[in-house]
Amino acid sequence: MLDLAAGPGEVGFAAASLIEPGGELICSDQSESMVELARARGTALGLTNVTYRVLGGEWIDLELASVDAVLCRWGYMLMVDPAAALRETRRVLRSGGRLALAVWDAAELNPWLTIPLDVLREHGLWVAPPEGSPGPLALSDRQLLRSMLEEAGFAEIELDAVEISRGAPDFDSWWATHLDLSSSTRTAFEAADEVQTEAIEAELAQRLEPYTAAGGALSVPGRTLVAVAEA
Ligand SMILES: C[S@@+](CC[C@H](N)C(=O)[O-])C[C@H]1O[C@@H](n2cnc3c(N)ncnc32)[C@H](O)[C@@H]1O
Repeated sequence: MLDLAAGPGEVGFAAASLIEPGGELICSDQSESMVELARARGTALGLTNVTYRVLGGEWIDLELASVDAVLCRWGYMLMVDPAAALRETRRVLRSGGRLALAVWDAAELNPWLTIPLDVLREHGLWVAPPEGSPGPLALSDRQLLRSMLEEAGFAEIELDAVEISRGAPDFDSWWATHLDLSSSTRTAFEAADEVQTEAIEAELAQRLEPYTAAGGALSVPGRTLVAVAEA
């Protein structure tokens, strides 16, 4: 089983025990530092059926028909050429192998992502990427996702949506975690000067108030599209 764009490895690690005995997980990411982070986490978890590889989605350095399943949560929409990555995914899957992926749904369903980006845009620190370029919302159109899967040669495509919630005990920890999760938000925020930083955080806390409980805990909704398909 291949976990593509695995980041710190969470999704593949959850599946690793399900493919034992005998099954092996390849935990991969294009970023060497992410792969090293995943390796450290997997080792700490005592996982023994995992190998770690630096692999790019658009050119997967694995043999034709060499894996039974591919997982990719919140990866394809960040890739420069997701159509090529899906064709590569199809190529490395054996016939009848399965792909399971997740990408973010429409902007209005993901305030956890759009509220910070709106505030940063109003401060001149973030510009929405042109349509068709990589970004968290680049594959939020179900039709586009379905047709890319079809064009890559997948069959038995099933699309669904899953509600999620980004929670934290208080604003500061919510924001710190968010900056770790969203590299576009982090890059924009890091360009803020001291005065802007304070203003941005204050505005953000205010706009997140509808999702903040009396004790200060946040629970900000979102929705992810999920797809499974057969090679
Ligand atoms: C939002 S994180 C998701 C990580 C993980 N799948 C998860 O759900 O926790 C996106 C990851 O995609 C990786 N990535 C971006 N472009 C990639 C590409 N072209 N090929 C492989 N990995 C890529 C990034 O390095 C990052 O670790």
